[in-house]
Amino acid sequence: MTDTVRDAAFPVARPRRLRRGPAMRRLVAETRVLPENLVLPVFVKEGITERVPISSMPGQFQHTRDSLRAAALEAAEAGVGGLMLFGIPGHKDERGSAADDPDGIVQAALRDLAAEVGDDLVVMADLCLCEYTDHGHCGPLMADGHVDNDLTLERYASVAAAQAQAGAAVVAPSGMMDGQVAAIRAGLDRSGHTGVPILAYAAKYASVFYGPFREAAEGAPRFGDRSGYQQDPANAREALREVALDVAEGADMVMVKPGLAYLDIIAKVADSSPVPVSAYQVSGEYAMIEAAAQRGWLDRERAIVETLTSYRRAGAEQILTYWATEAAHLLR
Ligand code: PBG
Repeated sequence: MTDTVRDAAFPVARPRRLRRGPAMRRLVAETRVLPENLVLPVFVKEGITERVPISSMPGQFQHTRDSLRAAALEAAEAGVGGLMLFGIPGHKDERGSAADDPDGIVQAALRDLAAEVGDDLVVMADLCLCEYTDHGHCGPLMADGHVDNDLTLERYASVAAAQAQAGAAVVAPSGMMDGQVAAIRAGLDRSGHTGVPILAYAAKYASVFYGPFREAAEGAPRFGDRSGYQQDPANAREALREVALDVAEGADMVMVKPGLAYLDIIAKVADSSPVPVSAYQVSGEYAMIEAAAQRGWLDRERAIVETLTSYRRAGAEQILTYWATEAAHLLR
């Protein structure tokens, strides 16, 4: 009788035993984010002579070709795994002509990066047209204002070939057009780039958290929004379908984006994906934490490490984050 009472009051199972000090906690930690898991998104802009701070993303810049090289070197020295390059051209038009111009800003910057850090980190090129079109949508438009899916595929195939030719080690289509991975694979293979993998932004949601990015990349749609091609935040099953289609079309890696509001999607995709799973900690996630930290409402460094750990715990193997270089130092 007394034993039963004792058992109830003093439990035998005591999970706290394994939390008794930093050494014990380190020993039993299940999840570690490594610097080489991190990918740094970077912006390069044509026609500027000094890097331009992005006001809604404190600490981030629109780079010149020179300041980009410096940022890439810093990332490489910190042990970051890769870069994701976005370009902002001097001239925009209906079809986004600058995106596959061999002398366009992205191609020039890719050549710089391949030469400067190409052996030390994986230089990836974001493949979309929204930074290059004058209307800000991710492909040329039809008369009714919707993006012309199949015409866009032809454009993406050409952009992929130009990026690979300029030295991109990976191309990463982010436009959410149907059939984009197959079209890009064909474009790469036709142009002799059979060895260049595709990281597909497979499950990309129409998210408010891209807000600051649109200032950074100057790619906000002039009218309407992207709900006609990006996914509805209400849907999970659709994400698995998108991933399955992209894998069937030849995606070598798949991405979920954003991450923090979609950790369930990362976990589901990681459970079933036959290829590596990446996730993108997007501009709005960065801005939220930076803003709260500026006000003294959050411990910035702990917030960075905790959110990155949650991505990894959910199953993401590569994490795109604007904190990549700094986090690589924090995680050492
Ligand atoms: C372009 C693209 C976007 C982001 C990455 N690629 C914006 C969008 O789809 O509107 C967002 C990244 C971020 O918010 O950090 N297709």
